Amino acid sequence: MTKPDKYALITGASSGIGAAFARHAAINGYDLGLCARRKDRLLDISEKLQQDHNVAVDTFCADLGLPGAGLNLFKQVQKLGRKVNILINNAGISIACSFAKTTYEQQLRFLELTINTPVALSHAVLPHMTKQGWGRILNISSIAALSSGGKGHTLYPAGKAFLLKFSQSLAAEVSEQGVLVSAVLPGFVATEFQQANNIDPKSMQSAKWFTQSPEQMVEEAWRRNNQGAEIIVPGLSAKIMALLLRYLPERMVRAITRPLAEKAYVGD
Ligand SMILES: NC(=O)c1ccc[n+]([C@@H]2O[C@H](COP(=O)([O-])OP(=O)(O)OC[C@H]3O[C@@H](n4cnc5c(N)ncnc54)[C@H](OP(=O)(O)O)[C@@H]3O)[C@@H](O)[C@H]2O)c1
Repeated sequence: MTKPDKYALITGASSGIGAAFARHAAINGYDLGLCARRKDRLLDISEKLQQDHNVAVDTFCADLGLPGAGLNLFKQVQKLGRKVNILINNAGISIACSFAKTTYEQQLRFLELTINTPVALSHAVLPHMTKQGWGRILNISSIAALSSGGKGHTLYPAGKAFLLKFSQSLAAEVSEQGVLVSAVLPGFVATEFQQANNIDPKSMQSAKWFTQSPEQMVEEAWRRNNQGAEIIVPGLSAKIMALLLRYLPERMVRAITRPLAEKAYVGD
């Protein structure tokens, strides 16, 4: 199958895992569409990637937690005449405090960002990918998708589990047409995630043993997506944890994951 254009659209590209995916895609010769809310960050990253790797970079400053944001982003990409052949649905947040004490609007924004935006973008890019017989979609879920949940971060495991199941169904539908879809379930990755979501970084100390750098995580996710892996748990320690979470009885999973989740709960 031919791969005539090389354009990767990456959400949440202003820091952490998204910025590492942007570098990795640029190293592999892809022109880029980078989306996030922080314009200054996007522009700095864009300038550096253009200089270092001689690729074209479009920046899209948008809040993907707003209704219709995914489709709006795709329309902007289309207006520039770009054809997406790699989509990385990476932008993400978590809400560390209690469900009842947050506003419903906060929770809706979480759902829009985690679920509706990736679904809208995947739906929008597929016709081109299937027509070309080549495409890649990576949905950044989390090992939390396999957990039993806990206080705080109430919708996070459910939202990430949605991405996992959505990716698997889509993979089953489109892999024979050359479009490889993967759910990526990182353990802990050293990014700004805790800081951005008001989680005390000290609460994560005990998770250090399975912390990866964004670059390590991205290298494995990119490589294994290309090999057709539907579920990617990057890193050995996260793989061991994922095995336990998938095969232990539910009450044991709860005993493991609930204390971990509650460490990252910041109260009301
Ligand atoms: N770090 C971990 O340990 C870990 C583990 C498992 C899964 N993950 C997942 O990995 C993904 C990336 O997280 P990260 O660790 O790289 O954290 P991060 O450094 O905080 O990056 C999150 C990215 O998402 C963007 N974003 C957040 N809200 C947005 C919105 N409303 N609209 C548009 N962009 C938005 C942020 O950009 P702006 O703030 O500029 O908008 C930023 O670029 C997330 O989906 C997260 O759930 C992370």
